[in-house]
Amino acid sequence: MTIAIINGPNLNLLGKRETDIYGSQPFEVFLEGLKQQYPQVTLLYYQSNVEGQLVNEIQRLGFEVDGIILNPAGYTHTSVAIGDAIAAIKAPVVEVHISNVHAREDFRKLSHVSGKSAGSIFGLGLKGYELALQYFLK
Ligand code: DQA
Repeated sequence: MTIAIINGPNLNLLGKRETDIYGSQPFEVFLEGLKQQYPQVTLLYYQSNVEGQLVNEIQRLGFEVDGIILNPAGYTHTSVAIGDAIAAIKAPVVEVHISNVHAREDFRKLSHVSGKSAGSIFGLGLKGYELALQYFLK
């Protein structure tokens, strides 16, 4: 099984960025642990700060992999294009947010992604990515 994790803008700064909200672990370190824990899964990883690049990658991977774990970060709340890309592809998508977006500012309560995704996980920290992976493993 091949699963792609796609992270949006500013998630390259995990471990340094607002650590009270997002924790102090760099994503690469977490990902290495996940790969070791789930050797039966081929885990691909892509991160970009650019909306169009995220759309390109969702389109490309969306016809190749068995599932996508997507944290579009700030674009969750603004990007019709990312929502449309999810609707256009074959692979199911699980939306993940590290923080509890419903317990923060009102603008974070709107997601262009939730309605197009198989499901959403938020507020459980990096553990959310692992839970999404377990959903695909069923
Ligand atoms: C986030 C939540 C978004 O509102 C925010 O813009 C992010 C990260 C999260 O993982 O909690 O950059 O997607």
